[in-house]
Amino acid sequence: MRTYLITLVGLLFVLFSYAAAYDPLDPNGNITIKWDVMSWTPDGYVAVVTMNNFQMYRHIMSPGWTLGWTWAKKEVIWTMIGAQATEQGDCSKFKGNIPHCCKKTPTVVDMLPGVPYNQQFTNCCKGGVLASWGQDPQSSVSAFQVSVGQAGTTNKTVKLPKNFTLLGPGPGYTCSPAKIVPPTKFFTADLRRKTQALMTWNVTCTYSQFVAQKHPKCCVSLSTFYNETITSCPSCACGCENKHKCIKSDSKLLSMVGVNTPRKDNAPLLQCTQHMCPVRIHWHVKLNYKEYWRVKITLTNFNYRVNYTQWTLVAQHPNLNNVTQVFSFDYKPLVPYQSINDTGMFYGMKFYNDLLMEAGPAGNVQSEVLLQKDKDTFTLKQGWAFPRKVYFNGDECMLPPPDTYPYLPNFAHQNLVAFSTLFCSIFLILLVLF
Ligand SMILES: *[C@@H]1O[C@H](CO)[C@@H](O)[C@H](O)[C@H]1NC(C)=O
Ligand SMILES: *[C@@H]1O[C@H](CO)[C@@H](O)[C@H](O)[C@H]1NC(C)=O
Ligand SMILES: *[C@@H]1O[C@H](CO)[C@@H](O)[C@H](O)[C@H]1NC(C)=O
Ligand SMILES: *[C@@H]1O[C@H](CO)[C@@H](O)[C@H](O)[C@H]1NC(C)=O
Ligand SMILES: *[C@@H]1O[C@H](CO)[C@@H](O)[C@H](O)[C@H]1NC(C)=O
Ligand SMILES: *[C@@H]1O[C@H](CO)[C@@H](O)[C@H](O)[C@H]1NC(C)=O
Ligand SMILES: *[C@@H]1O[C@H](CO)[C@@H](O)[C@H](O)[C@H]1NC(C)=O
Ligand SMILES: *[C@@H]1O[C@H](CO)[C@@H](O)[C@H](O)[C@H]1NC(C)=O
Repeated sequence: MRTYLITLVGLLFVLFSYAAAYDPLDPNGNITIKWDVMSWTPDGYVAVVTMNNFQMYRHIMSPGWTLGWTWAKKEVIWTMIGAQATEQGDCSKFKGNIPHCCKKTPTVVDMLPGVPYNQQFTNCCKGGVLASWGQDPQSSVSAFQVSVGQAGTTNKTVKLPKNFTLLGPGPGYTCSPAKIVPPTKFFTADLRRKTQALMTWNVTCTYSQFVAQKHPKCCVSLSTFYNETITSCPSCACGCENKHKCIKSDSKLLSMVGVNTPRKDNAPLLQCTQHMCPVRIHWHVKLNYKEYWRVKITLTNFNYRVNYTQWTLVAQHPNLNNVTQVFSFDYKPLVPYQSINDTGMFYGMKFYNDLLMEAGPAGNVQSEVLLQKDKDTFTLKQGWAFPRKVYFNGDECMLPPPDTYPYLPNFAHQNLVAFSTLFCSIFLILLVLF
């Protein structure tokens, strides 16, 4: 009865957490797009567009962000530095100077690293990759300059672009309308003078896993030292619609050239598993010392076409308030509400294991975590030692149902066994003696 109740509550919880864009573990997480008008031109303005990723553990991975919007009037983009519109559109009305883009709804992408110096801009040219705020705040910003024509030329006549869209790289983000905010202030290089933008507007984009896709993108499996049972990921945790497209780990196709090459549409090539997830997180309760206990965490990639760069793992467990040591991963506690300290993010160490390689023998990273017990709450019973929530790259992973967790062998049962063995032995001894 109790397990049913737990499952029901868990199910409701999952349903609710999928439906809301709001992420309880990162309540202030968003990507903010700021337009600073730096100068007016005869027919428009020059603006610096800055994207800040304020999300603690959700980054934008290669092939990077794609930003779109709809012009309010007949604006065109004369030039762009540090980014480019993917399509020029119909500029046939122009003679002589031809704009960079004449589309009503431009689609803009970052430049790749190594573009010529005169096409670069501060914080540009990273192939659209934006690190998460929690992992690397310096790399969580991207910027470009845009020169807009056929636009307003004063802060009264300029019309804000509408209908912002952000792909990062897949769907999932929803953007607010642009809102005029107090103009940004900038320091000059010598820090002795402040200048300010002529006009500034902000757009805020928030992520929802529900918008991104209907299935989770990762799952969790569990094991312990005290029970041989390995609780695997739920079957079809990430959807089995594409099961016919998966590839067995011993398939000859894997030795073909180009099998790992990413596709333009980011279509995965998954190893066949019963869960069909691109990523599995395994949580193993490894040791129980007097004062401490130890967990081993393993991340496995099942996608032959993706290397996960700058991956992040978030776990929620009541004992994460007392992490003593994390081996071979970096760790940072996340304290969304000051009173509760039960969530933390793990990420790879730079140049060591911050790359989770494509599926195959090298496609995993692992760590061990040493936790100090709180004597009042620590228990190996009833699945307490397992995480309450797990996120990979900002997407919540599916946990197995609690009634399948490996349980601590029943003590009453064990004692019974001990007693019966005792009786047996006494009986045998008596038998031998007499
Ligand atoms: C966006 O994130 C920043 C940083 O966490 C926060 O200060 C700001 O309030 C957020 N904006 C919105 C509209 O949620
Ligand atoms: C506008 O966005 C910037 C980040 O790009 C942020 O620092 C600023 O606080 C935002 N302004 C408002 C009013 O939200
Ligand atoms: C427009 O500029 C004037 C001064 O030139 C300033 O007083 C006003 O607040 C600005 N309005 C906006 C919306 O930025
Ligand atoms: C907003 O943009 C999306 C995608 O570009 C498009 O499907 C939608 O029709 C646009 N909405 C408006 C009101 O322009
Ligand atoms: C992953 O990285 C390795 C080493 O840098 C590279 O050989 C391989 O092609 C990459 N795989 C994918 C799917 O990008
Ligand atoms: C939260 O727990 C971590 C250890 O995991 C500790 O370093 C940190 O000080 C704690 N923070 C608060 C606010 O209790
Ligand atoms: C960590 O555990 C010790 C021992 O139970 C306890 O005294 C201490 O308060 C705990 N620290 C936190 C941050 O809860
Ligand atoms: C191990 O856990 C499984 C699954 O919960 C349970 O069925 C089994 O009885 C446990 N094994 C022992 C020895 O208690």
